Amino acid sequence: MNPTVSPSELLQRAHDVRENAYAPYSGFKVGAAVRSENGDIYVGCNVESSVLGLTQCAERAAITALIASGLTTFTAIAVVTNTGDFPCGSCRQFLAEFNLDAQVHVASDEELTSFQSTTVRQLLPEPFHLNQ
Ligand code: THU
Repeated sequence: MNPTVSPSELLQRAHDVRENAYAPYSGFKVGAAVRSENGDIYVGCNVESSVLGLTQCAERAAITALIASGLTTFTAIAVVTNTGDFPCGSCRQFLAEFNLDAQVHVASDEELTSFQSTTVRQLLPEPFHLNQ
């Protein structure tokens, strides 16, 4: 347990797991690392398929690992690509499910130290909610 995981440590983990991304079709590798409330880190990378629509984004893979461990919330996510882009719309909705106020740190692979930070809420101010 380490509740004081820093953005830079989370970005480093995202950078490292990005190496494992399976992206033969787009060539666009993504690494993501999420921090749980108790400071544990869960990682994911994108996994593509020849049936392109089956592609799994890195952010959703990392959240899925967190959920599989028995946790249901996260406090921050770091995403590393070669462009430093923010998560796609689908991933924003997926992240919103588990904490709108989570921090989102993004960086390009070349410059982990000049990362940008925001929150899930800022990225998706009006998430969809299923009220039955
Ligand atoms: N991708 C992610 O992993 N996360 C995003 O937020 C956007 C896109 C992946 C999916 C695909 O493998 C590649 O990046 C290009 O879209």
